[in-house]
Amino acid sequence: MVYQANPSRYATMEYRRCGRSGLKLPAISLGLWHNFGDATLLDNSRQLLRRAFDVGITHFDLANNYGPLPGSAEENFGRLLREDFLPYRDQLIISSKAGYTMWDGPYGDWGSRKYLIASLDQSLKRMGLEYVDIFYHHRPDPDTPLEETLCALDHVVRQGKALYVGLSNYPAELAARAIDILQDLGTPCLIHQPKYSLFERWVEGGLLNVLQEKGVGCIAFSPLAGGQLTDRYLNGIPADSRAASGSRFLSPDQLTEEKQVKVRKLNELAERRGQKLSQMALAWVLRDESVTSVLIGASKTSQIDDAVGMLAHRHFTDAERAVIEAILV
Ligand SMILES: NC(=O)c1ccc[n+]([C@@H]2O[C@H](COP(=O)([O-])OP(=O)(O)OC[C@H]3O[C@@H](n4cnc5c(N)ncnc54)[C@H](OP(=O)(O)O)[C@@H]3O)[C@@H](O)[C@H]2O)c1
Repeated sequence: MVYQANPSRYATMEYRRCGRSGLKLPAISLGLWHNFGDATLLDNSRQLLRRAFDVGITHFDLANNYGPLPGSAEENFGRLLREDFLPYRDQLIISSKAGYTMWDGPYGDWGSRKYLIASLDQSLKRMGLEYVDIFYHHRPDPDTPLEETLCALDHVVRQGKALYVGLSNYPAELAARAIDILQDLGTPCLIHQPKYSLFERWVEGGLLNVLQEKGVGCIAFSPLAGGQLTDRYLNGIPADSRAASGSRFLSPDQLTEEKQVKVRKLNELAERRGQKLSQMALAWVLRDESVTSVLIGASKTSQIDDAVGMLAHRHFTDAERAVIEAILV
């Protein structure tokens, strides 16, 4: 059936300015790291994208290596884009990245000009796009001069293959240097994509201050710690969950009893607030004004609905913040 987007999709989503740029991002964005590769049923991926767009999620985040197999998330997304979303291309912010291993040999990884430019060309082909909205360097490269990597980002913008550029996984000090270099090149850094959740708080006090000061946006990835900050694992490991899938990013042994005790206490607090744990976890990441958007993953459309439901109850009392700090110690 031909997809017709929900006409009231913009009514309830909140759009937040990305740093000091002209671009606004939805408070919730959808990542295609899991559940869009060849190991997933295409129809489920289609339903996830449709539901996300129908509730005002205008930003889809990809990378060259998302799959499995690497590249297959971009290929599948390209197909769904052609079949469902082409009339809406100008209403979408599509990002991709390069920085992790993508192909054999010395030119398929890290941060050289050779790798980044070739990788973006491949991503555009896989997705059937003329340009991406945001192109990221996915992780710092200790061996390539920072200037070379950033000149490559500047170059793809000048070529018209990306509208904006971003950094991911850069620590605070390196991010500050990179942001200054990009500014001097005339291609300001739009956004930084760090891991940030109740369980992963390295950005606080360092990176977030840098981004705020320099007017760069922030999109927090894995805000639910891959599903740990939800009710998914409260009663064991469901067969259809990420932890049961053999993922090296969330294995059953990561769900330690110590963590589960915290999750249960956080869940009780969420219940007292009248929301789900996943909703409280997302609201908590968004409490900081320097965070533009939370970048979630989803395997079911109901998880997207849960995320959007969070927007109705975003605020924390001082007492609730103190309880959370005490639980996380
Ligand atoms: N830049 C980087 O280096 C980097 C690294 C990692 C990720 N990312 C980006 O961040 C995106 C999100 O990462 P992520 O998938 O780890 O994010 P996440 O939001 O922390 O975890 C998503 C998972 O949590 C579970 N979940 C979500 N909502 C739920 C709900 N309401 N109730 C119960 N369980 C729920 C689902 O797991 P089940 O599958 O078990 O249902 C879902 O797949 C990626 O797609 C990618 O775009 C970037």
